[in-house]
Amino acid sequence: MSLKRIFEPVDIGTLHLRNRIVMAPMFSQFASEKGEVTERMLHYYERRAESGVGLLMVETTCVDYPLGTFTRELRLDSDIFVPRLTELVSLVHSYNTKVSIQLHHAGRQTYVAATGGLTPVGPSEVPSGTPGLFSRALSVDEIKALVTKFADASERAKNADFDAIEIHGSHGYLISQFLSPFTNKRTDEYGGDLNRRMKFALDIIKTVRGRVGDYYPLIFRINGSDFIEGGLTIEESIVMARKLEEAGINAVHVSAGLRERGYWYEQPMYLPRGCLVDLAAKIKKQVNVPVIAVGRINDVLLAEQIIEEGKADLVAMGRPFLSDPLILKKAEAGQFDDIRKCIACVDGCIENLFRHKAITCSINPEVGMEKWFKVTPAKRKKKIVVIGGGPAGMEAAMIASQRGHNVVLFEKEKELGGQLNIAHVPPGKTEITEIRNWLINQVRKTTVDVRLNSEAKLKDVLSEKPDAVILATGADIYTPQIPGVDKKMVTSANDLLSGKKKLAGEKIIVIGAGMVGCEMADYASEKQKSVTLVARRRCGHDVPARTRPLLFKRLEDKNVDILKGWELQEIKDTKVVLLDINTKKKKEVPADQVIMAVGYRPTNDLARELMQKFKEVHVIGDCFMPRKILNAIHEGYRVALNI
Ligand SMILES: Cc1cc2nc3c(=O)[nH]c(=O)nc-3n(C[C@H](O)[C@H](O)[C@H](O)COP(=O)(O)O)c2cc1C
Ligand code: SF4
Repeated sequence: MSLKRIFEPVDIGTLHLRNRIVMAPMFSQFASEKGEVTERMLHYYERRAESGVGLLMVETTCVDYPLGTFTRELRLDSDIFVPRLTELVSLVHSYNTKVSIQLHHAGRQTYVAATGGLTPVGPSEVPSGTPGLFSRALSVDEIKALVTKFADASERAKNADFDAIEIHGSHGYLISQFLSPFTNKRTDEYGGDLNRRMKFALDIIKTVRGRVGDYYPLIFRINGSDFIEGGLTIEESIVMARKLEEAGINAVHVSAGLRERGYWYEQPMYLPRGCLVDLAAKIKKQVNVPVIAVGRINDVLLAEQIIEEGKADLVAMGRPFLSDPLILKKAEAGQFDDIRKCIACVDGCIENLFRHKAITCSINPEVGMEKWFKVTPAKRKKKIVVIGGGPAGMEAAMIASQRGHNVVLFEKEKELGGQLNIAHVPPGKTEITEIRNWLINQVRKTTVDVRLNSEAKLKDVLSEKPDAVILATGADIYTPQIPGVDKKMVTSANDLLSGKKKLAGEKIIVIGAGMVGCEMADYASEKQKSVTLVARRRCGHDVPARTRPLLFKRLEDKNVDILKGWELQEIKDTKVVLLDINTKKKKEVPADQVIMAVGYRPTNDLARELMQKFKEVHVIGDCFMPRKILNAIHEGYRVALNI
């Protein structure tokens, strides 16, 4: 299939774009502590500019400092930031790519480390959403001063040669806080009905327009909905979009959500692809300026369909440019299978920000490392044996082979995939098949000698005479040795998901409430079983923050009974004995089947023998320590890059 519509040119005001795909703004934390463009950031954006995207949107940039959202946010509150930003612009322009910048004020939605010791501000005094951090209401003079700061920053952006400015009026940040009745409780000229709630935004647009001139392209990002009771609805957003158009905005970019509903702005895989497109479509019907749709549009074919059906004029993709910066080049060449689609795991990118680290991508280890990580031919070609065809082993084998090494990959099962073959089975996890299939396809495109149904023993490895061995044999479910654990009614999450065992009976007890346990409870309750989830302490501690509320909601909707603070003591024929870890009291809960999901233990029995026989042995992925897809793929990549 060839794509026509997304590659058509389009205009945003006076700005002519070569195609209709926009790279959505994504805060990266690649800026310096002072808020300047760094070398790392230049390389990161350069890789994305290369792909031929119509418009590259540079991330949130503070107009006022401190009080960003996170630390290491770009700044435009002073002229001193202009020269480095100009460098960034000219780099992007050297690829014939247009570039905009997003002007931003976090308002109440900040973190302690990013406040610089100041109290977060907003239209009204409402909780910041960060425990222990309160916000205060801005005075009218302060509001007017902030309007000027947006205008000052816009002039600097124009001086830095940006092709357009996006004003960040969504996601519950300062402008969005004024727009939303959920956060704007003012009774003066800045609060009340929509006209008054829009005053701050309209004042900014007017003042910015006065500074940048009539013909400079201005984009406004809005929420099509806050998706919260008492917040903005699509009906109000439509009216708002019309007023923004009247005020001189050249394009409307339709996103959604605020901090209390953060999963609407970085949507996890539980939300369907293109979940915000209908909001954009409704707005598009009512305005004449171009409308940009965004939100889990991780497939170029879906982007094409959105444009073809007239639901939006442009499609913004954020994370798809992290997982595969060459997405558009591959799409143009019709190499759809080669595109590494974002799987919406929300782990490497957004979760890293919550860990106060710069973004990466679970499935693309090169994000933010563009300068340093390059798959180049190896100086000395080696024979490499990789044991285990899960994500870590496949990534390692693929990269090593691309570098010219002679690679043999042993997999004991009849197919490649490892844990990915079962991780996609619980409800809402189908996106995992995308990375599984991608890795398998890419390995198949290399010269890797894949040996399926081959459990590698030491003698097999010895007979290959390898220069290096990579052990990636994964992990197995850990089974605590408690009375009754050998009973037939006890099964493991892996055995159920792989189809080796079936759900049995009506009363299911899931032991362990990490990500796997929660997903097993979701899986079992999907089949209309009565499910009890037993958590020693917290529930879902390793589930990414954006995913957690949606997963918990699924469990709640399906009446999963969650027992927190209980430990499994014994399994009897028709019940389990649980111990309250605080009071030490015991209780019995009826059970037809017990699913063990208390954790994994590495399957690395071969490691010691290998280390005695070979000089270069690498233990990676879950067989080093059971963790996530991110760790498996990143370790596979890094090891193969350094051999
Ligand atoms: C790591 C990360 C950082 C983000 N930072 C911003 C930002 O700076 N400004 C903004 O308006 N949206 C930001 N977003 C939201 C994206 O612009 C986009 O709306 C969202 O990721 C959904 O689109 P996608 O599914 O194509 O990624 C961010 C998203 C991610 C994943
Ligand atoms: S980390 Fe996950 S959600 Fe983020 S870009 Fe990569 S695949 Fe997508």
